[in-house]
Amino acid sequence: MKKLYIKTYGCQMNVYDSARMADLLAPLGYAPVEAPDDADMVILNTCHIREKATEKVYSELGQLRVLKAARAEAGSPMLLAVAGCVAQAEGKEIIRRQPAVDVVVGPQSYHRLPEMIAKVAREARVELETDFPAEDKFDHLPEEHAPRGPAAFLTVQEGCDKFCTFCVVPYTRGAEFSRPVEQIAGEARRLLDSGTREITLLGQNVNAYHGEGPDGSRWSLAKLIRHLARVTGVERLRYTTSHPLDMSDDLIAAHREVEELMPFLHLPVQSGSDRLLRAMNRGHTRDDYLRIVERIRTSRPDIALSSDFIVGFPGETDTDFEATLELVRTVDFAQAFSFKYSARPGTPASAAPGQVAEDVKSERLQILQTLLIEQTRAFNRDCTDRVFPVLFEKPGRKQDQAVGRSPYLQPVHVDGAARLMGEIHPVRIAAVLPNSLRGVLADETAPRRERAFAT
Ligand code: SAH
Ligand code: SF4
Ligand code: F3S
Repeated sequence: MKKLYIKTYGCQMNVYDSARMADLLAPLGYAPVEAPDDADMVILNTCHIREKATEKVYSELGQLRVLKAARAEAGSPMLLAVAGCVAQAEGKEIIRRQPAVDVVVGPQSYHRLPEMIAKVAREARVELETDFPAEDKFDHLPEEHAPRGPAAFLTVQEGCDKFCTFCVVPYTRGAEFSRPVEQIAGEARRLLDSGTREITLLGQNVNAYHGEGPDGSRWSLAKLIRHLARVTGVERLRYTTSHPLDMSDDLIAAHREVEELMPFLHLPVQSGSDRLLRAMNRGHTRDDYLRIVERIRTSRPDIALSSDFIVGFPGETDTDFEATLELVRTVDFAQAFSFKYSARPGTPASAAPGQVAEDVKSERLQILQTLLIEQTRAFNRDCTDRVFPVLFEKPGRKQDQAVGRSPYLQPVHVDGAARLMGEIHPVRIAAVLPNSLRGVLADETAPRRERAFAT
């Protein structure tokens, strides 16, 4: 057996890709390990979204170079590969900056890893593959090798045609592409057979999904969700990440009608200022976003909303920033991510006038995060004493403790629940901790998909 260590940065799509790379390398005799030290192959699955994410990769590679040299000296060579979005964006640059790297492979071509590895062994040279190949990687990946656990990711859509002016994703992941329904349903069934209970459908723009259905027509994400709920026996479904422009009536209705669909929606807005939304090329206004939120809440009153925000986009004034705070106060999010704008090479915004000073960005980020954290705390506080169905996903830090997720994606720690791993059980929320909830097992007769808040 050879040892494979994969380190994953970035979004859930990378988590999915890392699992698929492990599937791909299993027939070659590679088994996953938790640390790089005695691994025969190390893959860094990288993220290019912000400068910090990219820089992390180069510093990690510096450390791995030392490890690789020590391993070579000890007579047990190590193969070093860089995959993911930095590989796609900076392939040649990686090889130039870090000669210890053997393989560089982009997110759309990692199905070619086995042949690349064979070539490196045969010809002792660096292998680079960052084309967007004409063939589809999903047609070339083997079936899942190892079970994915109680909650699993399943990529249904990739790439992005939206070209927000700050974002590298359209360049690193390529054009929008949707997998066919039957291929997705097959993968979902296999996941469920191996013990998975909850599936999160993934895509950079998942609600723009338009894959080929069994009837040959293009299916929407809503239709895919209804189909999976009906034919696979999945207990919980989620999807991420969505763009406001693709939040169709059909998808909004699915939140009311499909009981497997969890009442949580991550819907990035980035800014509350119309001027900035236009400069970002988001394609919607602040009012459009608020109207969508209203329609979603009418359809599913207990839905928990999450979002992404960027502060310090070029040209952002105090008034623009105030508009973002105002939007946050209006919507009241259950959870959110916020970032300082990071200028990315090759994106239109990186060359725009009015780049915002670092200290102004930091100050705004702090103000925004304070407000968002308050909202999350309030949302969590309102959960006290409620009974939620919790899917137990992993052991907790304490003896006999298990950690699961509520329908609203909150982590819930429960003592005496270790034996319930992989199962859904009713839990009464007893306490709200800073980043999670603590619960106690409740009466088993509580509904499995209880609507936690009155609707
Ligand atoms: N497809 C998703 C998000 C992709 S990236 C969407 O359309 O919203 C995840 C988040 O990273 C984005 O929502 C955005 O908030 C943030 N992000 C992307 N590019 C960024 C940049 N250049 N600087 C700072 N944050 C960025
Ligand atoms: Fe990036 Fe915009 Fe596409 Fe999201 S919609 S991946 S933010 S370009
Ligand atoms: Fe990062 Fe690529 Fe995902 S840039 S956020 S890993 S799509």
